[in-house]
Amino acid sequence: MSSQIGSVYKLSLFGESHGHSIGCVIEGIPAGTNLDIDLIKKRLNQRRPGKDKYSTPRGERDTFEIISGYHNDMTTGTPLCVTIKNIDKRSGDYKKTDAFWRPGHADFTGSVKYNGANDLRGGGHFSARLTAPIVFAGAIAEQLLAEKGIEILSQIQTVNCITAESFESLEITDNIRQMLDAEDYAIQTPIKEAMLKTVDEARRDKDSVGGIVEGLILNVPVGLGEPFFDSFESKLAHAMFSIPGMKGLSFGKGFDFTSMRGSQANDMIYKSGITVKTMTNNNAGINGGISNGMPIWFKCAFKPTASISKTQKTYNYETHSVEALSIEGRHDPCIALRAVPIVKAMSAIVTYDLYRERQI
Ligand SMILES: Cc1cc2nc3c(=O)[nH]c(=O)nc-3n(C[C@H](O)[C@H](O)[C@H](O)COP(=O)(O)O)c2cc1C
Repeated sequence: MSSQIGSVYKLSLFGESHGHSIGCVIEGIPAGTNLDIDLIKKRLNQRRPGKDKYSTPRGERDTFEIISGYHNDMTTGTPLCVTIKNIDKRSGDYKKTDAFWRPGHADFTGSVKYNGANDLRGGGHFSARLTAPIVFAGAIAEQLLAEKGIEILSQIQTVNCITAESFESLEITDNIRQMLDAEDYAIQTPIKEAMLKTVDEARRDKDSVGGIVEGLILNVPVGLGEPFFDSFESKLAHAMFSIPGMKGLSFGKGFDFTSMRGSQANDMIYKSGITVKTMTNNNAGINGGISNGMPIWFKCAFKPTASISKTQKTYNYETHSVEALSIEGRHDPCIALRAVPIVKAMSAIVTYDLYRERQI
């Protein structure tokens, strides 16, 4: 099992959905850092479930407790451990479907991998609960990157078939920053109502929908990324594919490159003062796995939530037969909506880690 990520800024995760607590241990925060607790709380709140009908009604407050590595409002430079209690557990909801392997979920694979000893309640270690400590670690990385002038944005670009303007062309103004920093969902205002309506329709149909979350990393210095195997893209891909339900990733033009010619795909290089820039940014600010100074933009495709109450057929390992299953418990009708702060957090963790690697 690997619950760790990062080379210099290292994150180690622990916990289960219905266990006592979830949390993480972070190494690599510079000693003497005065943590921006308000930013951490804000990011956790943006990820938090139970706000409205567009997310799972599980009512977690995500109050955290730092239990090591922080003294006199400063990091000590030693491992920082944080825990977040699981408060609103309703394990009974899962009892009736205990013997089923939920289609699209990790019940079957997890049971085989851990010889049936894994905690299945609420998805156990595979639950999105585990993304709360990721958001905690991401907020710290975001703070440390902001000190270097590096900024990260994320937004919902697509819900089912409804699409917002991509970071490829969107002009990043203070108004956009504010819009995407909303307490509920990071969606551009003109399209927000239509997207949420689509989610609600799926929910009322006892079903779920997928979506695309876009990430944007601005003001990255030239030279971050460690080819071959720790290229900027590889590191981001590793982190993004760790997010439960994330099934597709593309950088810049991504799959659209295949229908272009070289003359259309290449980003022409020019010099602006002492800075080298490109006329277009199809390659999303990365060449050869190394940042080129242009904005890094990418898309993460999230599948429709696996746990739906619409009746499906799946295997019951107690009766050894395929039976009808209607999943109870509380679930998100659209994972992508709540994944936006997680994509932001993962982007910050990777970028800060690569930044620090470059200093060594
Ligand atoms: C923010 C977020 C919320 C999620 N909520 C649910 C949920 O309510 N129900 C569910 O079945 N899966 C949910 N998932 C996805 C599952 O955790 C994921 O599908 C499962 O662990 C299997 O992993 P895989 O889809 O990557 O193969 C959520 C994921 C994220 C990132």
